[in-house]
Amino acid sequence: MFGYYMPVKLKAGENIVTESPDGLILGSRAMIVTGRSSGKRSGALADVTAILEERSVPYTVYDRVENNPSIEAAAEGGAAAREYGADFIIAIGGGSPLDAAKAIAVYAANPPGNGFELYDIFKGVYENKPLPMAAIPTTAGTGSEVTPYSILTLHREQTKRSFSSPEVFFKTAFLDGRYIANLPLQTLRNTAVDALSHLIEGFTNKKSSPSSDYIALEGMRVLGGGLEILKDSLPPAELCTELLWAATLGGMVIAQTGTTIVHSMGYPLTYHKDIPHGMANGLLLGEYMRLADRELPWKTDLCLEALGLGSLDELCALLKLLLPCETAFTEEELAEWTKTTIAAKNVKTCPFEVTRGLEISIYKKCLL
Ligand SMILES: [Fe+2]
Repeated sequence: MFGYYMPVKLKAGENIVTESPDGLILGSRAMIVTGRSSGKRSGALADVTAILEERSVPYTVYDRVENNPSIEAAAEGGAAAREYGADFIIAIGGGSPLDAAKAIAVYAANPPGNGFELYDIFKGVYENKPLPMAAIPTTAGTGSEVTPYSILTLHREQTKRSFSSPEVFFKTAFLDGRYIANLPLQTLRNTAVDALSHLIEGFTNKKSSPSSDYIALEGMRVLGGGLEILKDSLPPAELCTELLWAATLGGMVIAQTGTTIVHSMGYPLTYHKDIPHGMANGLLLGEYMRLADRELPWKTDLCLEALGLGSLDELCALLKLLLPCETAFTEEELAEWTKTTIAAKNVKTCPFEVTRGLEISIYKKCLL
């Protein structure tokens, strides 16, 4: 038994936002949620504000989204949207602004206090419908534009945690490779490896199905050539579009399957050591694949074939090249982090049995 649900209207192509903006304006008063630089750097913010002005739609720009947004910051954004009277959101950016926008949309309609508390966002069911949202990704990695997930930083718990609700799918997502074309090479690498991680974790996930597997293999096929080029140089324009498409396919996969321990074990690396999310996943991905290979060798073969690689050793060597990491770790901190990571939901969807001892050994093999 399996199904497929992804209710986002996808629109892709060069200049798609300016040439075909229907689906961007979802109400009468907009809040644009973006990062401090992503909206301006990509050119997407200028495209969007020009359209809103041309159509006389009032808007405010909320560009205070930090990397790895905290739950408190998302609630602040919700309060700002209420104060402005926004009735829809346009999210522009990488994973942080897109994920923050989902939480802001919930908090705007369900202010914390009076029975709905800050952490109730994790219940995934809300009395008032979150504000409708459109998304314009400006990195090619997270796939957040097509998932019902939002990852928030919890300072109290010293980690990151995701909430999920079918109500926070974007209504529309606009994919234009031009918006990622001027990213630094290492950002392109980190985010592409995040996309790879989504595709592999989804493909090897206990919740995988024929529909998610089909998309995952296509995503790996599209991404394979791009990873090879990113070893040495910035991608040409046409490859930017491919990278963005592969990332969206990765999002479509995890929207069905969720992730695995690669993601939950990656979160402390980001929280405690400030390692970018995609890089954190990539540092753990090779060892994860070796463990998955024991249970699902035919799936490993299909992954390698789709990526254009000859062996798991080749995959590990590629990841090492793409992700230079100088950070030092201690045995004690790695063991400490597993107290939290072993409780993550996605421990249960791994293709192999996961114990705290196994997580400690994965961390040690990959990071010491
Ligand atoms: Fe991710």
